[in-house]
Amino acid sequence: RQIKLENARVDKDGHKHFMAKEIAEQPVAVDKALKAYLSDSGEIQMPEGLDFSKIERLSLVACGTAYYACMVAKYWLETIARLPVEVDVASEFRYREPPVSPGTLALFVSQSGETADTLAALRYMVDKVDVIAGLVNVSESSIARESDVVLPIYAGPEISVASTKAFTCQLTVLLMLALKAAQDRGLPLPEGMPADLRALPGLIHQSLASEAQIAAASRDLAGARDIIFLGRGQLYPLALEGALKLKELSYIHAEGYASGELKHGPIALIDDSVPVIVMAPRDALFEKTISNMQEVMARGGRVVLVTDADGAREASDGTAEVITMPQVPDALAPILYAIPAQQIAYFTAIAKGTDVDQPRNLAKSVTVE
Ligand code: AGP
Repeated sequence: RQIKLENARVDKDGHKHFMAKEIAEQPVAVDKALKAYLSDSGEIQMPEGLDFSKIERLSLVACGTAYYACMVAKYWLETIARLPVEVDVASEFRYREPPVSPGTLALFVSQSGETADTLAALRYMVDKVDVIAGLVNVSESSIARESDVVLPIYAGPEISVASTKAFTCQLTVLLMLALKAAQDRGLPLPEGMPADLRALPGLIHQSLASEAQIAAASRDLAGARDIIFLGRGQLYPLALEGALKLKELSYIHAEGYASGELKHGPIALIDDSVPVIVMAPRDALFEKTISNMQEVMARGGRVVLVTDADGAREASDGTAEVITMPQVPDALAPILYAIPAQQIAYFTAIAKGTDVDQPRNLAKSVTVE
């Protein structure tokens, strides 16, 4: 079936869907984003007008997948740059009329740069904040034009309604922004940074190799009525993103929860008919997440654990499936774990026979309220 293209010159390059092509393009797209902001000598270079020694707080505003990128960025900006960050869904923010303190940088994240609510939120902040920054894929967009500082993500045209490479490129640029903020504020960078960033394209390439295993697991997921994603810390937004992508593409009801919230309500949903996908790299919060996972298994929940080799060694007992990701430095995990989240949604949609590139009721760019 012919897809209505935003850019008629883009084709599927032999892939079955634009989404498959865009998932596969991520090592190259992320590499491009890295090279745009990271010099050969390892300096992070950002456009003029971004001086974090004068910024006291950030306000991050976006919709959908871009909003989840902002949620991850909050963890990075708070832990690495020690800056207070607020994150808002644009459709709520624009009508809340939030008070704005001096020293605020407002950052609007949007693949298209045309999302109506995000643009309206930006316009609300003009004249109220020190700097308006737009982190966009489309550099000629309204959000780019109306920002003081533009941070392009260099993902290239994204045709599939489901955002994939734009998300990982947004995260890559946001992580570099957090590192730049830490440097401007005279703080040490996490060990290995920014040099470790250069490993990202290779790690993404490696993680794409789980495709066949994820396709097999997804055939089973396709029979479920409800699916739950769990994550903790910087993986919590990835649980939300995994659930959004899955419902968007396969029309299966899916929810993402912070795993610590499980016993405050969602655990009542668990029985053997509800698959639970747990995103848990072997990091400082691993044991906490695994203990939540065990609570799920004790109630008959079928767990798909997405972890690394160490995590798999320690915690695969009793799980239905383990998807093994490459070992990564902590800060890079949300970028890498986006790949299985995308592949689970893609292959579950294929198994269900839904329209992957143009799911029902959805538009690529939401330019009306
Ligand atoms: C993601 O898969 C979505 N289709 C959607 O949530 C999207 O991220 C959202 O509409 C925001 O779009 P934008 O990045 O172009 O502003």
